[in-house]
Amino acid sequence: MSKKVTKAIFPVAGLGTRFLPATKSIPKEIMTLVDRPLIQYAIDEARAAGIKEFIFVTSRGKGALEDYFDHSPVLEQELRKKGKDQLMEVLKNTNMESGAIAYMRQHKALGLGHAVWCARRLIGNEPFAVILPDDVIAAEKPCLQQMVEAHAETGGCMVAAMEVPPEKASAYGLLDVAEDQGQIVKVGGMVEKPKLEDAPSNLAVIGRYILTPKILNNLNKKHKGTGGEIQLTDAIAEEINGDEGVFGYRFNGERFDCGSKAGFLQATVAFGLARDELRTELWDYLQDLVASEKAAQ
Ligand code: UTP
Repeated sequence: MSKKVTKAIFPVAGLGTRFLPATKSIPKEIMTLVDRPLIQYAIDEARAAGIKEFIFVTSRGKGALEDYFDHSPVLEQELRKKGKDQLMEVLKNTNMESGAIAYMRQHKALGLGHAVWCARRLIGNEPFAVILPDDVIAAEKPCLQQMVEAHAETGGCMVAAMEVPPEKASAYGLLDVAEDQGQIVKVGGMVEKPKLEDAPSNLAVIGRYILTPKILNNLNKKHKGTGGEIQLTDAIAEEINGDEGVFGYRFNGERFDCGSKAGFLQATVAFGLARDELRTELWDYLQDLVASEKAAQ
């Protein structure tokens, strides 16, 4: 039985260039799906999985992210005065217990592996989670919770995995499957964004990880990988032949790539349709839109 996972790293130091000019002044993670910023979805998922300590790896210009988790006394006072209890409840979810949240600066965007390594001093000798907030996963049981439960059985390192269309596979880190046990696969190899002809499978790594502290040692070597960046995938791949091994977990749920514009728009529609107060109006609009598109063809 593996140790409990209570710490999560949120690497949010990337430049978010695909959303320029918006990300010139707002962090990508503050961009809003319906009425909640991406980071709130990530935090809610982490909490559901039993995470108690939240470590953000940030960079210059991410101040709005830190403010988001602060108490807002003026706003709270106003809402209380007006008897807006429901909104008070909504705000409560954005508050963090004192000492539960830590910020670490990544001074240069040297890659996801480097961002995780920046948080090394805050991770003890226990497994920890990594969540990329721009992968938003709609699931009945939150994805990280599914993984924490599976990891309690497997130990080792675990990455969220998802089949992607073969022609898109080279945009991802891909798994070479040594043993397919259905929901869990034993990983025999991992490669970051290979050429299409070199792809070992179309089973892609998605932005949820449960890692052992050994990964931080591997990252110490600061090897540059694909794109000249320090890749997390490479540090995880070093553990494949280790004592504990690496596992892929085919999660239940739908993943949206909110780091891309198309994925973000799809997520907006899906999360909008999932909301009782919005569904009818949005659905009617979409139907009218499709009908008029068809009529125009
Ligand atoms: P992305 O590859 O999406 O890069 O990073 P990005 O900079 O956020 O966005 P684009 O491609 O320029 O539009 C995946 C995750 O890794 C983090 C990002 O913040 C994001 O959560 N990251 C990436 C870092 O924290 N540091 C890095 O050096 C690189």
